[in-house]
Amino acid sequence: MEKVNLQGVRLFAPASIANISCGFDVLGLCLENIGDYMEIRRSEKAGIRITSIKGQDLPLEAENNVAGVAGLAMLKAYNAKLGFDINIEKNIKPGSGIGSSAASAAGTVAGMNYLLGNPFTPEELIPFAMEGERLACGSAHADNVAPAILGGFTLVRDTNPLDVVKLPTPLELTATVIHPKIEVKTADARAVLKKRVSLETAIKQWANVGALVASLYEEDYALLSRSLVDEIVEPARSILIPKFTQLKKACAKAGALGSGISGSGPSVFALSRGMTDANKVAQAMYDVYSKTEIPFEIHVSPVKQTGVSFLEDLS
Ligand code: HSE
Repeated sequence: MEKVNLQGVRLFAPASIANISCGFDVLGLCLENIGDYMEIRRSEKAGIRITSIKGQDLPLEAENNVAGVAGLAMLKAYNAKLGFDINIEKNIKPGSGIGSSAASAAGTVAGMNYLLGNPFTPEELIPFAMEGERLACGSAHADNVAPAILGGFTLVRDTNPLDVVKLPTPLELTATVIHPKIEVKTADARAVLKKRVSLETAIKQWANVGALVASLYEEDYALLSRSLVDEIVEPARSILIPKFTQLKKACAKAGALGSGISGSGPSVFALSRGMTDANKVAQAMYDVYSKTEIPFEIHVSPVKQTGVSFLEDLS
């Protein structure tokens, strides 16, 4: 039921890792301690207004902003006469490869839904958030918005019609992410991909996706480690990321279960069993990148079991 007296909500919109090695455009996971803060407020004026963005220089016009576009898609489906104002505190850098646009889009639609008394299920919110992704990179993929909304690990079985499966997340699984501050546009990272793969390569890839999903159900960290292999996308994209091979080797040596490109890059992620190993991996990543001239930042985060978090009701 609609919360008539509730004028606004402050929320946390999480970052996410898409692809997770073998699952290009289908697998994703939600991160616990990297994300944006947003305030969504009801407005008397119909439509969506982005009233402020702190931390990044991004367009304020709703039609040119991923949060605005996602919100407008939801209003179109629900009631175009309603209005919302959005403040965004942007901690996730656009173009970092950890779901910056997805966080803004997911936070907007989850926050609006909360204020409206949840007329949509979380799964039904995903297509609205995907419109933000379409604006951001020209392709309405769901592998970041699905985990940002649903939390944990998600698998996008199909986008038309949308069919998303929420997967279990082994509790000790911890991500380490290095963000080299270079630009890799998603459109460019998609353009380097070959349009055809051999049957032999495809067999290896779907074997790894199936095994990775099984490893999550079984909490089998060794199987998860063996499955974090990407035969198709990583070989093509890794040339866009300086020191990629050295990073992978250093992560493995430090005890990571596996590593790969986060989304379309330039961030590189590793998964570890537990925080101690994840911190060792962070040190190993640091040791590789501190020898370069490239500025970078490193995050260590458990997998967030739930998506967008509502922090405070605003009157
Ligand atoms: N699955 C998408 C890609 C994610 O790798 O191109 C982009 O953020």
